[in-house]
Amino acid sequence: MTLRRGWRSLPGRTLRALVAARGAVMAPLGAGWEAELPLIRSTRRLVPMLLSDAAALQILIAVRAARHLDGAMAEAGVFQGGSARLICHAKGDAPLHLFDVFETLQTSDAAEASGDAATVRDHFRSTHGRLSAVEALLAPYPAVHIHAGVFPGTADAVTDERFAFVHLDLDLPGATRDALEFFHPRLVPGGILIGDDYADREVRAVFGAFFADRPDAVIELPWGQVMVVRQA
Ligand SMILES: C[S@@+](CC[C@H](N)C(=O)[O-])C[C@H]1O[C@@H](n2cnc3c(N)ncnc32)[C@H](O)[C@@H]1O
Repeated sequence: MTLRRGWRSLPGRTLRALVAARGAVMAPLGAGWEAELPLIRSTRRLVPMLLSDAAALQILIAVRAARHLDGAMAEAGVFQGGSARLICHAKGDAPLHLFDVFETLQTSDAAEASGDAATVRDHFRSTHGRLSAVEALLAPYPAVHIHAGVFPGTADAVTDERFAFVHLDLDLPGATRDALEFFHPRLVPGGILIGDDYADREVRAVFGAFFADRPDAVIELPWGQVMVVRQA
């Protein structure tokens, strides 16, 4: 390939260098992918979403890949429903199970909070999504089931379910371990699990220990996520 004269002085080169100096990359999207950005932007306008655009795109890609598998979908760690809205857009008619404490810990007596509940309350304090607001945000989508309360106590309702896609975004290593123990045996072969917070040392250690003796492909993604594809 012959580079045109002047290529080195193209403004894009300077911009790439600046972006790289900040530990990021510029990745022009291929044909068709730009169409995903309005969805991510519109979701950000509706609710604060704690994901980068790359991580949001990764969720859409994985949900699309998993939706032809025969299984439900799930997200543990919903907050205000931003990433759940992305999953809803891409999932088609697949059932989606959502797990979060929402405001339930704020409205119960502090003295009642022990074990998992105390850990969650200590970490998130008064920062939480509101169940009614998430219900309203996701009302246009079919087959959305919200399980409010402390996970894994709330998982009893779906013990017989099989999952094609799971998004774990709980922040906390203990809850992440519980979620892996619950969801992994229920993933269908080829099912995809995406974990957030993989840059966190403790969360990464939980994944490392959990998958040390398992054959699944564990793929680290450069934007703080990990993706697991369930082996048959
Ligand atoms: C980082 S936020 C989720 C962000 C969301 N996925 C997004 O992209 O907007 C983490 C959420 O996990 C929830 N959470 C953490 N541990 C939990 C547990 N054991 N049970 C239920 N919810 C939990 C918190 O309430 C919080 O809303």
